[in-house]
Amino acid sequence: MLSVNGTGSAGSRIVGFGHYQPDRVMTNEDLSQIVDTSDEWIVTRTGIRERHIGGDDDTVTNMAVAAGRAALDDAGIDPGAVDQVIVASTSLSDRAPYTAGRVAVALGMSTPAPLDINTACSGFESAMAIADMSIRTGAATTSLVIASERISGLVDWTDRSTCVLIGDGAGAAVVTASKRPEISPVSWGSVPHLVNAVLVDGEPQRFSQEGRSIYRWAITEAEAHARAVVERAGLTMDDIEVLAFHQANLRIIEPLAKALGGADKVVLRDVEWSGNTSAASVPLALSKAWAAGELPEGAPALLFGFGGGFTHAGQVVHIPVRR
Ligand code: ACO
Repeated sequence: MLSVNGTGSAGSRIVGFGHYQPDRVMTNEDLSQIVDTSDEWIVTRTGIRERHIGGDDDTVTNMAVAAGRAALDDAGIDPGAVDQVIVASTSLSDRAPYTAGRVAVALGMSTPAPLDINTACSGFESAMAIADMSIRTGAATTSLVIASERISGLVDWTDRSTCVLIGDGAGAAVVTASKRPEISPVSWGSVPHLVNAVLVDGEPQRFSQEGRSIYRWAITEAEAHARAVVERAGLTMDDIEVLAFHQANLRIIEPLAKALGGADKVVLRDVEWSGNTSAASVPLALSKAWAAGELPEGAPALLFGFGGGFTHAGQVVHIPVRR
């Protein structure tokens, strides 16, 4: 079937969320049997209590398919209606074919435009921006935006400074055309002096980061960038009801939320139960909270991701209203 794209739309909106996490849960206690660490150190420094670690079948593609399928089911949208699939990931196993192409085939789509992107931990927000711009310009009408990560395959399991932080999983959102724009124009950028602060390199490829430098940036600079996202949306912080930040560390999420008036808002803290899942962390947190009925319908939510590159990206999205 030939793809027929639209002529553009006033805006776009999220109409469904989905997620997937591997069955295997690894607690801090489990980790203390592998490396010299403790539940007390991990909880005090990061807030993380447990994470899900993928089994053999939990590839980036398979987790993306599961999350994507769940999002389409949630939205009540047939896979055949999707004309764009974007997969954000830092942990893709193959350079070709595109993971998004494999996801499209696995979900039984017709001929969508597949696109993989890698802006590390801000990948979902960057992918949402591409979906929104594609729909506004008529390059797509219905976009399935997925972030899927298997970071467990990239860590050195003898290195206590990294293996306690990470987790695997995927989150997804379905984005469609909307008369009323419910996804704001993206606000994004980079931090030159931190370009090498997060690395996935070497043979075999291994994840490493300058934790302290990133922490300092997050505590001193992230607030201004998060405020810029809200300003670009033409809103004030008072309008925002949900705060969905990159889930790397509760010691970053809590002060950032406090600085942005979080006492009156729903603050997503999924890092406690999922660890750091890089690009997947924001959609995973959103989808789990959505499934649990914890997100106010129609509410403006501030999405803000940051990480490798060093990238940051965010937008304000409206939580869907249940059908
Ligand atoms: N268990 C026990 N002790 C540990 C562990 C562990 N798992 N890991 C490190 N330590 C020790 C260190 O050896 C060090 O000991 P020393 O003082 O005797 O030398 C001490 O704890 C302090 O180590 P630091 O690395 O300085 O610990 P810090 O308080 O900075 O916490 C952390 C590390 C959690 C990584 C923090 O710096 C952080 O969260 N940074 C931001 C990370 C981030 O946001 N990344 C986002 C982008 S990357 C991505 O998301 C994929």
